[in-house]
Amino acid sequence: MGFRKDFVWGGVTASYQIEGAAYEDGKGLSVWDMFCKQPGRIADGANGEVACDHYHLYQQDVDIMRAIGYQAYRFSVAWPRILPEGTGPVCGKGLDFYDRLVDSLLAAHIEPWMTLFHWDYPYALFRRGGWMNPDSPQWFADFAGIVAQKLGDRVKRFLTLNEPQCFIGICYDATEHAPGIRFPIWDTLLMAHHALLGHGLAVQALRAAAPDAQVGIAPTCSAHYPATETPQDIEAARKAFFDVSEEAPFWSVSLWSDPIFKGAYPKKLYELFPEHMPPVGPDDMRIIGQPLDILGQNIYNGKAVRADGRGGYAFVDRGKGHPFTGAKWPVTPRALYWGPRFLAEEYRMPIVITENGLSCPDVVSCDGKVHDPNRIDFLRRYLREYRRAAEDGVDVRGYFHWCVTDNFEWAKGYTERFGMVYCDFETQERILKDSAHWYRDTILANGDNL
Ligand code: GCO
Repeated sequence: MGFRKDFVWGGVTASYQIEGAAYEDGKGLSVWDMFCKQPGRIADGANGEVACDHYHLYQQDVDIMRAIGYQAYRFSVAWPRILPEGTGPVCGKGLDFYDRLVDSLLAAHIEPWMTLFHWDYPYALFRRGGWMNPDSPQWFADFAGIVAQKLGDRVKRFLTLNEPQCFIGICYDATEHAPGIRFPIWDTLLMAHHALLGHGLAVQALRAAAPDAQVGIAPTCSAHYPATETPQDIEAARKAFFDVSEEAPFWSVSLWSDPIFKGAYPKKLYELFPEHMPPVGPDDMRIIGQPLDILGQNIYNGKAVRADGRGGYAFVDRGKGHPFTGAKWPVTPRALYWGPRFLAEEYRMPIVITENGLSCPDVVSCDGKVHDPNRIDFLRRYLREYRRAAEDGVDVRGYFHWCVTDNFEWAKGYTERFGMVYCDFETQERILKDSAHWYRDTILANGDNL
């Protein structure tokens, strides 16, 4: 028992968070380049102009990943590095960077998993209305096609969008992320619809350019789980899991995944926003619902749910002294059992956890090492639950730890360390944390050591 033999173990990064080289080799600007220039937007006033300097140090990073024993590496391509204006002329040097990276990964026997869009949207397209523009779905699909034509002979796993919950919800509704402008609900819903159309058109473009590649998407969620594993609480948690709330509609699972896997927006959305739903063209749901090979899902935590005795659900208080991570996110390992299980039951898809991890206040100790027992404990607890899902028959295919190296954590700047590899941002020195050694053993044992 345990994980299947061909289960994939890996790590994840995202372009803006690690690459640096923000103004090199013809790269265009992204909304994150410009957002970081606005005083007060980033916790420590930092930016991703250098970050982990991965653009120059990628070979060293690949060597580190090989040393840890990664079987796969999920990374994203920076759209404005490849198309400086978002559309139009291709920047050969930008595309060449990913070409070299992919070759270097393959030489290290690490399978490249490429995310097409992890938030660094071309600033030139933002100035043309961004996701509000009716052409925006096609812009994204064209970009995806260009990348797949160049790299699809070697990259066999593509993920279209990373966490639309965030790049639409946190950016335009909550405004903590670039471009950080608040729009009314009707415009934000329209952007969501365009992002979904962009996903569907991109799947078509990827399939055309790389017919033998597997394609998926990587949304996130708050993975609610039953307070007790009674049928009543399980059904209550399932309701909570797929519900759409009025306060945070963009954070929901079903707003994004129902159109993709069920061909329609959830009814609840129409009940909540009857006048504000975007017009859905006759072909839209067919485009959005392109068949996928995998459902990637980023899961960090969830809330415990109980049945309220009236056919509904209620969230259960965490209680005094509940454990939290460095970023003050709750530690809730059962999210990694119930999240995959609910998703697989609802959408009938093979599941890959495309992100999971935590930030810790990691420091270099007197002995020159970085001891992160909290990370090991967190991952062991979560992975045990994930393995339990596998043993209960949930079709889970892989696990990607966020993150390979410490990096630029968006609006938190460099104040949070999510890496398994410590990064000294002054010297660019990398140090494997204890968890990296532990992860190596875990990969070798395919999780049997958990
Ligand atoms: C995400 C992210 C990462 C974050 C990580 C920690 O939210 O997709 O992909 O970019 O850095 O989740 O917050």
